[in-house]
Amino acid sequence: MRIGVIGTGTIGSLLTTGFAANPAHAVFVYNRTPAKAQALATGRPNVRVSRDARTLAGECECLFLCTKAADAKQVLAELAPVLTPAHVLLTTASALSLSYLEDVVPSKWVKVIPSLTQSVHSGVILVSYGRRCLSSDRLWIEELLRDLAQPFTVSEEQIRVASDLTSCGPAFLAFLVQQWAAAAARTGQLSDHEAETLLVQMLVGLAALLQNGHSLQDIVQRVAVPGGVTEAGLVSIGPAASELFDQLHQATQLYAQGSSIVAHLSG
Ligand SMILES: NC(=O)c1ccc[n+]([C@@H]2O[C@H](COP(=O)([O-])OP(=O)(O)OC[C@H]3O[C@@H](n4cnc5c(N)ncnc54)[C@H](OP(=O)(O)O)[C@@H]3O)[C@@H](O)[C@H]2O)c1
Repeated sequence: MRIGVIGTGTIGSLLTTGFAANPAHAVFVYNRTPAKAQALATGRPNVRVSRDARTLAGECECLFLCTKAADAKQVLAELAPVLTPAHVLLTTASALSLSYLEDVVPSKWVKVIPSLTQSVHSGVILVSYGRRCLSSDRLWIEELLRDLAQPFTVSEEQIRVASDLTSCGPAFLAFLVQQWAAAAARTGQLSDHEAETLLVQMLVGLAALLQNGHSLQDIVQRVAVPGGVTEAGLVSIGPAASELFDQLHQATQLYAQGSSIVAHLSG
């Protein structure tokens, strides 16, 4: 299949390399800074760099729009004269509403929210269909996305909270694990590095257990024997954990609604 990718940053690169691994696809890429697109094409015979966004839209009818939401408006202004109802545009920017996008151009629209986990052919890619997509479109789109990961269809209203889990989730969990390692190091018994190494190996084992069919509930029950040390630890974190994740979803929801409160982890 001929696939277009506009914007070859983190997500555009991830999609391009994922699709290019299937020799049945030809991937056409365009990026504002051409060197990035050129680097992706180097060594990948089925990745070609397009001269500009309009040329790319002439080369393929399936287009992934992988710029930040603010830049997407400019790309759309550029593409609008050449887009037709036959084009299917898949945007990775959750901030742009499907109804807004459908008003701007006559093409079919789909929101797709990838995750870094797709770089290792794992995880879930969220999909939300615009009203112009037919059930036949859904079939080929999901078949295409299965080259990258497991597609999971959600309504547009569900995208925010679902992408907290699938797309932001790896960063949230990795950050929590770093905090845990730091707390373990503060006991004075392990270095930060030792604690992080142990936790990472534990996580790899936990993922394998889940892959082998164990549920989260099953794992909790098997480790936390009544009256044991794990149960004591779970009781200590229970209420704080609920509050922590309530706060997290509230913060991302506020951000999505355009809250002016922007927090940075450092600096
Ligand atoms: N990162 C994630 O894990 C993730 C997950 C799910 C969804 N998303 C969403 O996916 C979108 C892209 O995220 P990202 O992390 O990949 O961002 P990114 O790394 O900043 O990549 C954006 C790319 O778009 C290019 N670009 C900007 N304006 C352009 C234009 N007019 N024409 C062509 N290319 C243009 C940029 O080019 P330059 O090289 O010139 O800057 C850059 O390479 C965002 O809307 C984000 O919210 C991201």
